[in-house]
Amino acid sequence: MSDEWWRDAVFYEIYVRSFADSGGDGLGDVTGIRARLPYLRELGVDALWLTPFYPSPDADHGYDVADYVDVDPRFGTLADVDALVAEAHELGLRVTIDLVPNHTSDRHRWFAEHPEYYVWTEEPNNWPSHFGGPAWTFDAARGRHYLHLFAPEQPDLDWHVPAVEDEFDAILRFWLDRGVDGFRIDVGHVLYKDPELRDEQEPFPETPFADWRRAVDRPELHPLYRRWRALADSYPGERMFVGEVVLSDPRRIARYVRPDELHLCFNFTFLYEEWDADRLRATIDGTLAALAEVGATSSWVLENHDVTRLATRYGSLRAARAAALLLLALPGAAFLYAGQELGLGEVELPDEARRDPIFRRTGGERIGRDGCRVPLPWSGDAPPFGFTTGEPWLPQPAGWSGLTAEAQAGDPASTLELYRAALAFRPRGGGLDWRASPPGTLVFERGELLCLVNVSAPALDLPEGELVLASEPGVTTVLPPETAAWLRRPVPSYDRGRSARP
Ligand code: GLC
Repeated sequence: MSDEWWRDAVFYEIYVRSFADSGGDGLGDVTGIRARLPYLRELGVDALWLTPFYPSPDADHGYDVADYVDVDPRFGTLADVDALVAEAHELGLRVTIDLVPNHTSDRHRWFAEHPEYYVWTEEPNNWPSHFGGPAWTFDAARGRHYLHLFAPEQPDLDWHVPAVEDEFDAILRFWLDRGVDGFRIDVGHVLYKDPELRDEQEPFPETPFADWRRAVDRPELHPLYRRWRALADSYPGERMFVGEVVLSDPRRIARYVRPDELHLCFNFTFLYEEWDADRLRATIDGTLAALAEVGATSSWVLENHDVTRLATRYGSLRAARAAALLLLALPGAAFLYAGQELGLGEVELPDEARRDPIFRRTGGERIGRDGCRVPLPWSGDAPPFGFTTGEPWLPQPAGWSGLTAEAQAGDPASTLELYRAALAFRPRGGGLDWRASPPGTLVFERGELLCLVNVSAPALDLPEGELVLASEPGVTTVLPPETAAWLRRPVPSYDRGRSARP
C-alpha cells in the first residue's frame, strides 16, 4: 500500500557546491551534506533534492553530465552518496536526486562513441539557446551542426533514438538500486524535438516559460514518463518523480501529473508571480483547479537555484517571510531552496566573480544566476562563515554575519525559527477554502488553520482564534502590510467564500 508521502511533503533543494564543504576546496560536497543532516532534520523538511553531483566539466555547474552513474571526485564518492542516503533515511529524510536527460556534457563518452544519440543537422534552423546565441554549433570533424538548447558544451540527446531510452532505464535502475527515493527531472518538458526541426516563429517572446518552442511538450513525453513510472513502481518503497515542466498553463502541466506518469511537477506560475494578492490568488486557483481535475497534487516553489532570491524579488525580507507562511499553508508539496530559510537575499557579485555560463555567453548582458548560488553562511562573524576552511567558490557578503544558521538558531524573531515553526505546524491533507477578505489580502482555511496574508492592505484585523504563528514578532490583533499569520479555528468572523476545491 502506498502512503503517497510526496503529496504534502516539503522538499529542500541542496545546491551541492554551495551547501557545506568538508574538504576545504571551497566547493560543497557530499560529506558536508552528511554533517548537516541533523540541521535539516531539525528544520523539519521531509525530503532532500540534491542538484547534480556527477562527474562534469562544469560548463553549467553539473547540468552538463559526463557520467550519470558516478560521483565527481570533487563532491565525493559513490560510497559517500550511499552513506548519505542511509543516514538520511535513519533520520526520516528522503533523498531525491537530479536527472538530466535532455542533454549530456560534450565530454560524455556517448558524444564521441554514439553520435547517433544526438540531434544533428546540415542546415541549422532559427532556434535560440536558452543561454544566448544560436542553439546550433558546427562540429568540424563531423561536418554537421549539433543541437544544444543550453550551452554548446551541452549537446541535446535525440530521444527518438530507442537506445537513448534504454540507456536512461539503466541509469534510473542504477540509482533506484542504491536506494534513492526519486528524481527531479531537469527540463522535463523538452527531451523530444520536432523531427522536422522546423523554424520557430519570430520574434521570440521574452518569457521564462517555454510554451512557444517547437521542442517542448511533445506527445512522446507521456509514454516515456509512463515507462519511467512503471520502472520506479517496480521498486519497493515509494519512489517518485518531480518534473521541471516549464509551461505557463497549469492545464498543460496537469497532463504530466497522473497516477501512471509523474507524481509532481513544479508550478512555476506561482514562482514567477508578483507579490500581489489578486494575482497570487488567480495563480493558486488556476493551478488547484487544473490539478484537481486529474486528482493531482501541486508543488509550490518560491525559490530555486535559477531565480533571484525571494527577499530581493519581493523587495523586502518582510514580504518574503509573509510569503513563507503562504507557501507552507497551500495544499500539496512545497519546495524550499537552501538559504531561503535563512532569509538570504540575492548577492551582488563583481563581474569577475561571476561563473554562470549565461553571463559569459551573453557578454554580461544577462547577469545570470550566481547571485542566488553563493555558499551558505553557517556560523561565525566573517566569510567563509563555516561553509569551508578554504575560499568559497563564490564570495560571500560580509553583511551575512547576522544571517548565519548559528546566529539565527534559538532567536524566535529569526527567519530560521519562523521556518522551523511553520514546518512544525504546517497543515497537511485536505483542500483550501477561501474566505472573503479585503482587497490586497488573502485569507483561506486549511483544515484547522486559517491562513491570513496581508500583501498590501493598510491593515488586516485578525479574527478571534488562537494565534499559532505570525511572520513578524509583535503581531497580536492586526496584520500590517507584508505580514501573514496562522490562526487555529474555530474562527467565526469571516464569511465563507468560494471553495477552490469542492
Ligand atoms: C534547468 C536547471 C538549470 C540548468 C538547465 C540546463 O533549468 O535548473 O540550472 O542550467 O536546466 O540543464
